[in-house]
Amino acid sequence: IQPSPDGLAQAFILAEDFLDGSPSTLILGDNIFFGNALPLLLEKADNYRTGATIFGYHVNDPGRYGVIGFDKDGKVNSLVEKPSKPISNYAATGLYFLDSEAPKIAKSIKPSLRGELEILSLLEYYLIEKRLRVERIGRGHAWLDTGTHGSLIDAGNFVRTLQKRQ
Ligand code: G1P
Repeated sequence: IQPSPDGLAQAFILAEDFLDGSPSTLILGDNIFFGNALPLLLEKADNYRTGATIFGYHVNDPGRYGVIGFDKDGKVNSLVEKPSKPISNYAATGLYFLDSEAPKIAKSIKPSLRGELEILSLLEYYLIEKRLRVERIGRGHAWLDTGTHGSLIDAGNFVRTLQKRQ
C-alpha cells in the first residue's frame, strides 16, 4: 500500500520483494476494459519475457491521459503525460506488462513536476532502450477510465446497458 500518492511507478518499488525478480502486470483500479479479443492480446503480452508492453486506445480527449506518439512506420517514438497539445489520439491505457527490471528502473527515475514517480517516465526508459511495445486496442473494444464523476457515470451506464441487454 502506498503511504502517500507518490505516483504509479512507485508500485514497482513497493512490490519489489513480492515480485522477487519476476516480470509483472500492473492494472489501474479505475480502468475498465471490455472486448472479446482481450484474452489474446494479454496472452501475447504475457509471453514476452523481456521489455515492456503497453496498450494504446484511440480517444477523442487524449490530453486527459498519457499520450503515445508514433513515427511514420507506426512505431512508438514518444510518450507524454497529459499534454496540452497531444501529438496523437492514442491514450496509454492503465495496463502495463513489465519485465523483471521494472523495480530497479523505478528506483532510478526522478519525480515529475507534480512530485510523482510517473509511469511514463519508467516506460520512457524502455522506449529509449527500444524495448517498449505498443499494442493497439481496436475500436471494437471499450476502454473506460472512471477517474472523474462524468466518466464514472459513463462507465456505469455502459455496464448497465450490456448487462440488461445480454
Ligand atoms: C494515469 C497515467 C496515464 C494513463 C492513465 C490511464 O493517469 O499517469 O499515463 O493514461 O492513468 O487511466 P491518472 O488517471 O492517474 O491521472
